[in-house]
Amino acid sequence: MLETRRDTEELMDDPALPAATYDAVLADLAQVNRVTMAYRPTLAFLDRALAGRKSFRLLDVGYGQGDMLREIAAWAGERGVKAELVGVDLNPRSEAAAKAATPPDMPIRYRTGDYADLGGRGWDVIVSSLVAHHMSSEELVLFLQFMDTEVSAGWFVNDLHRHAVSYLGYPVLAKLARWHPIVRADGHTSIARSYRPAEWDALLAEAEVTGASVQRYFPFRLCVEKLRGR
Ligand SMILES: C[S@@+](CC[C@H](N)C(=O)[O-])C[C@H]1O[C@@H](n2cnc3c(N)ncnc32)[C@H](O)[C@@H]1O
Repeated sequence: MLETRRDTEELMDDPALPAATYDAVLADLAQVNRVTMAYRPTLAFLDRALAGRKSFRLLDVGYGQGDMLREIAAWAGERGVKAELVGVDLNPRSEAAAKAATPPDMPIRYRTGDYADLGGRGWDVIVSSLVAHHMSSEELVLFLQFMDTEVSAGWFVNDLHRHAVSYLGYPVLAKLARWHPIVRADGHTSIARSYRPAEWDALLAEAEVTGASVQRYFPFRLCVEKLRGR
């Protein structure tokens, strides 16, 4: 099962989706992230990457509803660390949805566009969540190279693991939680589109990125990280 990556488009990427539907999908996706404990690996990475720092600049690629950035803002606030947080998302509808869900006093700026246009801005950290599997392997190699060139402290890819247990278990969880039908369908597709550890190793080798590591996080995440200076 799932020997090769699936190549099906996700429904949420359809530009014809009405804005209200897109907003509802992003709101449920934020719930999926919370219920599946998806913030924890990224925040634990920040503890490692930014230990001892008093300030940092971070880019979140493909922010969706901005929920990861809000978690990061709270993480920084609790530690008294000054954060400059920028999100960039290709889908123009994400910006309005994320702004509406974000308290105005949080240090987050949302932009619409391609991450590749945001090089040379002095990022300490670049993160993403549930974005890597939206990219082809060619796009992902370019993304790895971009992150590796641009960061001073480290980068972190938080994505899914193409694994039979997640693939069979997610529809049950999604039905019980009564998530939006698009979130149910796309979640299932996303698991089938995501990468396996050996595939990440091959992508890193192709990108000529050394010193990165791939790690599984309970229950569904497969994350790839690199800390500078290691
Ligand atoms: C499944 S959503 C993830 C949203 C959010 N990060 C989360 O964890 O719920 C993937 C997002 O990545 C964005 N995306 C894909 N490729 C991108 C690129 N090259 N630059 C910026 N955003 C991108 C899409 O527009 C989409 O909103």
